[in-house]
Amino acid sequence: MTASSSALRHPERLLVTGGCGFIGSAFIQQRLADPGFAGRIVNLDALTYAGNPANLSQYAEDPRYRLVVGNIEDQSGVHKLLVDERIDTLVHFAAESHVDRSILGPLDFVRTNVLGTATLLEAVRSQPQLHFHHVSTDEVFGSLASTGAFREDTPYDPRSPYSASKAASDHLVRAWAHTYGLSVTVSNCSNNYGPRQFPEKLLPLMLLNMLSGKPLPVYGDGLNIRDWLYVDDHAEAIWRVLTHGVAGETYNIGGRAELTNLELLRRLIAVTAEQTGRSKSEFEALMTFVPDRAGHDRRYAIDCGRIERELGWAPRFTLESGLALTVAWYLSHPEWVAGVLSGSYRDWVKLQYSDKSPT
Ligand code: NAD
Ligand code: TYD
Repeated sequence: MTASSSALRHPERLLVTGGCGFIGSAFIQQRLADPGFAGRIVNLDALTYAGNPANLSQYAEDPRYRLVVGNIEDQSGVHKLLVDERIDTLVHFAAESHVDRSILGPLDFVRTNVLGTATLLEAVRSQPQLHFHHVSTDEVFGSLASTGAFREDTPYDPRSPYSASKAASDHLVRAWAHTYGLSVTVSNCSNNYGPRQFPEKLLPLMLLNMLSGKPLPVYGDGLNIRDWLYVDDHAEAIWRVLTHGVAGETYNIGGRAELTNLELLRRLIAVTAEQTGRSKSEFEALMTFVPDRAGHDRRYAIDCGRIERELGWAPRFTLESGLALTVAWYLSHPEWVAGVLSGSYRDWVKLQYSDKSPT
């Protein structure tokens, strides 16, 4: 297939799972801000520690948007939502998403990512008109040596509880499509960065530690390599797959921006020094080598040639422009940062939603 100007699918009534998280909220913001989008988005989110409704507060009163506090493991609740809202497209972001947490507590990952996805698929099974897009990660492919890149047909070789649970969820989606005839697409993306990322992940953690003079913990020798993509580029790629992707197919998404963690940190330090007027050496002095992550994957690299060739997608942001936007966002949103660091947004979530049933 080649990129076509007319969309194959016209998603109008979307159910987004995990839309209060980092990437889901960027996806929803991008859709609702697009003058060409005339649809409605229902956001089903359990509001775990990573789910922050403040990420979409500007749309709280928008009639095109509805937040439903609920769990993907609630099959009848999800089914009712699909029927009541006449959903035509489901975009599945909801997950436990942090490798370090998966090492400390793997069963939460199995519950949400494996059982949660299977339950969601069961809820969708009775809705043959619906298209299901599954958002996944390049980590399912394992770890690379110094050359090569993951392709869509690279065999799975997950090595952390997080990546194994995501790999299992990918298999479930494909199995449900094959067995029950569901219309599905899958995308596997590299490391995202950008505004509103929870500061447990490398980039926001390092940035916020820098600003408050705390150590910058570099795991192992700092030479692990990741490919980095600005979150809005990921959101746009998912929309491209939703509208133009071939049902049953998988698309790799990446930024063609491979860096060691040390190199990324040096770039982040340079941008932060520039935007704050503080010295690079002040930040560099905070760099601290700490014991390595257990089972730490050495290198990820993604061949995203297929989505570029077949769907006409390409990243719009370079690492330089994306990093500048990201640092500027964190610097200009101290209230978001304070809420997340103090956990106070959790109190707000409890106050707002404690009396509401899942659907
Ligand atoms: P995140 O941790 O920021 O957000 C996850 C969201 O899911 C939160 O809003 C949370 O409240 C919600 N959630 C968790 N369990 C739920 C449940 N049982 N029911 C309903 N909602 C639930 O994650 P993210 O970084 O935005 O990642 C989104 C998706 O993209 C994940 O599936 C992840 O595997 C995938 N992905 C992430 C990256 C990355 O770099 N962050 C890269 C590739 C793919
Ligand atoms: P992370 O953001 O957790 O994403 P992932 O493990 O899914 O790729 O980590 C990115 C890289 O940064 C990874 O190689 C681990 C490393 N890292 C650190 O060196 N220090 C840190 O404090 C964190 C959170 C990550």
